[in-house]
Amino acid sequence: MNRLARRLACLLVLAPLPFAASAEPDIAAETAQARATAGKLVSQLGAALEKEMTTGGPVGAIGVCRQSAPEIAGNLSRETGSRVTRVSLKTRNPMIGTPDAWEQAALAEFDRKAAAGEKPETLERAELVDEPSGRVFRFLKAIPVKPVCLACHGTPETIAPAVRDKLLENYPHDKAVGYGIGQVRGAVSIKKPL
Ligand code: HEC
Repeated sequence: MNRLARRLACLLVLAPLPFAASAEPDIAAETAQARATAGKLVSQLGAALEKEMTTGGPVGAIGVCRQSAPEIAGNLSRETGSRVTRVSLKTRNPMIGTPDAWEQAALAEFDRKAAAGEKPETLERAELVDEPSGRVFRFLKAIPVKPVCLACHGTPETIAPAVRDKLLENYPHDKAVGYGIGQVRGAVSIKKPL
């Protein structure tokens, strides 16, 4: 390459950068923050669930999922200025957990990848999306099925009759059963206006 060509190549590479840096949000930073928030939701809820499972058993712990999950998600939403929720393709509580089109597509992709052998805990999607209300940062992190989940999201062999009855009483349209280890139960969804 001669000198002129080298200079031109330099200009071409460098010129767009200042514009890109000022106009584009820092996706890597947003992703890192969203990942941390999703981690907090899963660990806080996991701790509440474990505590109640050892004291009240799965029947008592149904209340934890019912009250604590929306509470923890609400607190994290306020802390981060984002909308933090849990969604699933097979919901137990369709009022809270029904995915929108973007979430549905990502969840379907997570299911395909998990079925193909990818580790569910590694599955996530981060994207800038232009919505009618403006530009938003969207993040979805898969929630894997663990052994403790099977007491309430598994099969008739793992869900005790008393648990099944209480679930049916509270969630007559429950679709969130029949899961096994290694599957994706749903995802933490984070949406942040930019
Ligand atoms: C004690 C029973 C119980 C256990 C154990 C349990 N869940 Fe749930 N789960 C529920 C209930 C009840 C709801 C509905 C909560 C609500 O009303 O918002 C729920 C809802 C969810 C949702 C929200 C989407 C939906 O289906 O409505 C996800 C995601 C979820 N559970 C994942 C898990 C995972 C992952 C585990 C294991 C780590 C787990 N759950 C263990 C009872 C349980």
